[in-house]
Amino acid sequence: MKQVKRTAAVGAVALSAFSLFPGAAFAHDDGGKSAKIVGGTKAEQGEFPFMVRLSMGCGGALYTQDIVLTAAHCVDGSGPNTDITATAGVVDLEDSSAVTAKSTEVLQAPGYNGTGKDWALIKLDKKIDLPTMPIAETDAYNNGDFTIAGWGADKEGGDQQRYLLKASVPFVDDATCKNAYSNLVEKEELCAGLLDQGGVDTCQGDSGGPMFRKDDSDKWIQVGIVSWGEGCARPGKPGVYTEVSNFAEDIKKAAAELGA
Ligand code: ARG
Repeated sequence: MKQVKRTAAVGAVALSAFSLFPGAAFAHDDGGKSAKIVGGTKAEQGEFPFMVRLSMGCGGALYTQDIVLTAAHCVDGSGPNTDITATAGVVDLEDSSAVTAKSTEVLQAPGYNGTGKDWALIKLDKKIDLPTMPIAETDAYNNGDFTIAGWGADKEGGDQQRYLLKASVPFVDDATCKNAYSNLVEKEELCAGLLDQGGVDTCQGDSGGPMFRKDDSDKWIQVGIVSWGEGCARPGKPGVYTEVSNFAEDIKKAAAELGA
């Protein structure tokens, strides 16, 4: 029983996971006090200033001060678009000091057809005065431990979150990930998660948000975009992320088309 992948997610999960994997979904759940993203904790205000919540129920990251990098499956296509609201500058989505901006245009990855190429850019109607996050331009950082963050569900079928949650997940190599997902697009997708035990992962509503790590200068760099997975945090089923370095040139070019 496989969940629909790459749907922008809120409420899109109808899983029998709890009966199939009774321990897995709740392995890190202590009744709601600290079970977050899945298996994470609350982010500090200002810890990840580039994090954006998008009104369709996805995450994103500030690529420039007025361009958000998100997932292709979070948007409907390319062209003028004034429907999306981006919320930034807060961990608490109800914080009155949140900065919001509206979309003016969306650029979905050229050739996106639901498999791989899961990236898109959203142009905002104003600059948001917060730090942006550079993207990885080579595969040098496609290893080690990654940070994931988002306001998505804290367990399979769980609620969207008011507070930004974060967790750390290790890189899973393509060959190993291919065992979990025969349809993995190895050049375009990157896997991460605790393969044996599960318990930590992104989940529905985290899509489009960044997966990132520190570069050699100790600065955050984006290596992935939350894309899909079978359930959330299941043992043997890592999270699948867009391999940002593979699309760095395309993203740069697309951003230039949006006036970056
Ligand atoms: N497709 C989901 C979304 O739209 C993201 C799922 C990520 N799943 C995972 N197991 N890492 O929000």
